Amino acid sequence: MKVAILGCGSMGFNLAKRLLSRRHKVFIYNRTKNKILPLVKQGAFLSESVNAAISKADFVLVLLTDEKAIRDVLFNRSVKDLQGKMVVQMSTISPDESRINFKKVEALKGKYLECPILGSKKEALSGNLLAMVAGNKSDFNKARALIKSFCPNPRYIGPVGKAASLKLALNNLIASHAAGFSISMGIVEKNKIDLNTFMDILRESSLYAGMFDKKLNNWKKRNYGSANFVCRHLLKDIRLIKNESLKNNISTNVTVGIEKEIIKAIKNGWGEKDYSVIFNAINNL
Ligand SMILES: NC(=O)c1ccc[n+]([C@@H]2O[C@H](COP(=O)([O-])OP(=O)(O)OC[C@H]3O[C@@H](n4cnc5c(N)ncnc54)[C@H](OP(=O)(O)O)[C@@H]3O)[C@@H](O)[C@H]2O)c1
Repeated sequence: MKVAILGCGSMGFNLAKRLLSRRHKVFIYNRTKNKILPLVKQGAFLSESVNAAISKADFVLVLLTDEKAIRDVLFNRSVKDLQGKMVVQMSTISPDESRINFKKVEALKGKYLECPILGSKKEALSGNLLAMVAGNKSDFNKARALIKSFCPNPRYIGPVGKAASLKLALNNLIASHAAGFSISMGIVEKNKIDLNTFMDILRESSLYAGMFDKKLNNWKKRNYGSANFVCRHLLKDIRLIKNESLKNNISTNVTVGIEKEIIKAIKNGWGEKDYSVIFNAINNL
């Protein structure tokens, strides 16, 4: 299939590699061109402009930071026509932003699917992302084979907005598990309790979540250098979660507390580090 990727950061870059390995024709666009030159060596076609990428493709995958970046790239003044193109919007944005984007794409005569993803660089590269898809069911059916190139079991959620809400519900657990574990590990360490004993009991209990072991080495070594999902993106997401909670009359006390710790981490200069660095903020390191 002919696929454009707008935004080749951590996720877009690895997704491009995955699609190339599945023999798709991949047209890449990134604001900072030199970051994507390695993809050209692997067979991707480098596009000098957004339009150049879109014009060659049937599917347009969007993997940009946030709504502002989507406005700057997909809805900049030079993109006047999306006729015959299926936009698959994979960045984490709010349901309301996504519904607006849906209308904008329709006004440009294109089709729009909302397709947020769970999983990170490794899962993008190996094709094991968890994709939640919202939009018209017939569009989902058209895009299903492409989405299956990077997600074994794409799930259709319903009309535009629903998958974005579901993604925020799941990302809330990234933030709250990381924050909760940081407090618990802090108590264990400060009381000189054996960490292995704590982990053994935790693993045997119903409190356990896989992400605890996934990030344990980062926390033990206080090493957050090789980021999968950077701390500044968690701030974006916690604010999206806060707004979604406010809209749905859900208390934001816990969310605001986590937001403060993320802000503290960013003020300490850790915005580009893996989000698990929230441990250092919470433990005043
Ligand atoms: N990383 C993860 O594990 C993960 C998992 C699931 C979902 N997500 C979501 O997927 C999206 C992308 O995440 P990522 O980790 O790949 O982010 P990233 O590494 O920070 O990449 C962001 C991309 O957006 C581009 N960009 C940002 N602002 C722009 C602007 N104003 N104009 C043009 N381009 C702009 C960047 O271009 P430059 O290279 O020029 O800066 C880059 O291509 C985010 O919404 C994130 O929340 C991430």
